[in-house]
Amino acid sequence: MKRLAALIASSLVLGLMAANTVSASDFGADRHVARGLKCETCHGPDMKNPNYPDETTCLQCHKREDVAAKTKQLEPNPHTAPHNNDCTLCHMQHEPEVNYCEQCHKFNYKMKH
Ligand code: HEC
Ligand code: HEC
Ligand code: HEC
Ligand code: HEC
Repeated sequence: MKRLAALIASSLVLGLMAANTVSASDFGADRHVARGLKCETCHGPDMKNPNYPDETTCLQCHKREDVAAKTKQLEPNPHTAPHNNDCTLCHMQHEPEVNYCEQCHKFNYKMKH
């Protein structure tokens, strides 16, 4: 009985630890919330009538040139692409990320999440 209680206690602790870890199976919004953002940070103060975010939301915190520098391996680099490089086309925040360019180009981007 004691062992069972200990097992339950330790799995509870593990469960809490998992909840605090940025998990690869979460969507972008979940990962941002885990880093301390609020829904309102991206959607504006009235969550009954949320703003629909676009790149201007993302660019408040992320700089194109910084992201491009961190992703030098991508050729061509979508972060400095001549068109269709609105962050929210690829880095979906409430569903899996997509390679938006794929509709027209054969760029082999591997979206992480
Ligand atoms: C083709 C679609 C596409 C678009 C549009 C796009 N990205 Fe990315 N982004 C990627 C890919 C591919 C990676 C590398 C794999 C990964 O991290 O998912 C990446 C990586 C990142 C990273 C992680 C960099 C690191 O630390 O390794 C950030 C942050 C990021 N993008 C932000 C942005 C922002 C902000 C915008 C808009 C200005 C944007 N992305 C537009 C495809 C895109
Ligand atoms: C990092 C920015 C970010 C955060 C944080 C975020 N969202 Fe979003 N949200 C988006 C983006 C971008 C879209 C557009 C669709 C997508 O990417 O999945 C969206 C779409 C939505 C929509 C659909 C809006 C419409 O008009 O169709 C709802 C509802 C929503 N989010 C609710 C939430 C809630 C609730 C939270 C907090 C738990 C949250 N969001 C946190 C970026 C964010
Ligand atoms: C209030 C600041 C803030 C806003 C607004 C914001 N982010 Fe982030 N984002 C962060 C921080 C902090 C990190 C973690 C450090 C890093 O990777 O740059 C991050 C990480 C990321 C990453 C890489 C790691 C991951 O978990 O995917 C991507 C991609 C990303 N953000 C995309 C976006 C997109 C797309 C938007 C707009 C819809 C957005 N961010 C809006 C602060 C923000
Ligand atoms: C709706 C179709 C479409 C989408 C989506 C699209 N492109 Fe293009 N792209 C084109 C066309 C058409 C051209 C011009 C013809 C060509 O060069 O193949 C082009 C040209 C380019 C070029 C060459 C431009 C130059 O300077 O000559 C680059 C780089 C590029 N696209 C990157 C991207 C990236 C990165 C994405 C995703 C973020 C993307 N494209 C999404 C249709 C598209």
